[in-house]
Amino acid sequence: MSTLKSPTTHSAAGLIGLGAYRPERVVTNDEVAARIDSSDEWIRERSGIIERRYAGADETAASMGAAAAARAIADAGLQPTDIDVVMVATFTHRFQTPSAAAEVSHLIGATNASAFDISAACAGFCYGLGIADSLIRSGTAKNIVLVGTEKLSDFLNPDDRGTAFIFADGAGAVVISATTTQGISPTVWGADGSAMDAIIMEPDSVQAGITHEPSHITMQGQRVFRWAVGSMGDVCKDALAQSGIQATDLVAFVPHQANLRITNAIVKHLDLPESVIVAKDIEYTGNTSAASIPLALDALRSSGQIKTGDPVLLVGFGAGLAYAAQVALTP
Ligand code: COA
Repeated sequence: MSTLKSPTTHSAAGLIGLGAYRPERVVTNDEVAARIDSSDEWIRERSGIIERRYAGADETAASMGAAAAARAIADAGLQPTDIDVVMVATFTHRFQTPSAAAEVSHLIGATNASAFDISAACAGFCYGLGIADSLIRSGTAKNIVLVGTEKLSDFLNPDDRGTAFIFADGAGAVVISATTTQGISPTVWGADGSAMDAIIMEPDSVQAGITHEPSHITMQGQRVFRWAVGSMGDVCKDALAQSGIQATDLVAFVPHQANLRITNAIVKHLDLPESVIVAKDIEYTGNTSAASIPLALDALRSSGQIKTGDPVLLVGFGAGLAYAAQVALTP
């Protein structure tokens, strides 16, 4: 039997670039509340959200993702032509096919890259980090741009009290490359399809352009809340144990920005030291699903709260119900 060659492996992978794109239009709680018989006070208290941003009519998940990706590549000191894989985590791309990643790679000029999307909803960014780590260390790739991007405002029912105030738009991206020391810990991940109706975008969505029926995300809020609060703390503990560092070594905890009450409950379960900064980007960004973790990382780094090399614990969770967590060193 023949033996085939395998790629030349890389000994380590890590994050070397970070970029974000926040659309211009700020949407206040008062604006959202007017349609759902709610109030600024209720929304702040139940979700932590003070305001969020919605993309313009001319913007798409792909165009925002491309803006974030270009910034991450520049931050890494690379050219778009150095990128060999473009991965996009999203569920609000305009087309069923081709992928958002194909569009992003074209928009940024990543002419040497393969391109594919990840469908893991709010867990998509952490799924992507795990995949990127494996692709690089196996030698299949050298420089990967991983984008989380969502234009959720196109898929919201503005009259739905359970979702209209939570979700928002934005994009974040990182560059993951072959490095000299390992900057991504083993990924702890999973999914429970028996709860697939807990957060779901109805089939109309894929036919939106054909039927002219608007498609909407729906969520069983309390069920999702109980699942996240009941299980994501242990997922984080497992990821931390597998990383080889202690909670006291962490500089920040950057969970998916689902809801501030969920974040606070996970922090309590983890019993994190006071010194660990907890990302609260949801306050001014809302829940941007796959984009929320890189957006929150960017907010912490640009405000000087974390710096290059700092260990941060990441956890993404949402529709699927899918989740993933790992520790990463800040790019
Ligand atoms: N504004 C004002 N009042 C509202 C409201 C709104 N948008 N939505 C519900 N209410 C009212 C209800 O009418 C109910 O009133 P009642 O007690 O007089 O009957 C009360 O608030 C509680 O309703 P409930 O549906 O039980 O709300 P909740 O406390 O579960 O809060 C969420 C709703 C969505 C904030 C909460 O379930 C949640 O945070 N879920 C997790 C969502 C999440 O993070 N998803 C993202 C995962 S990726």
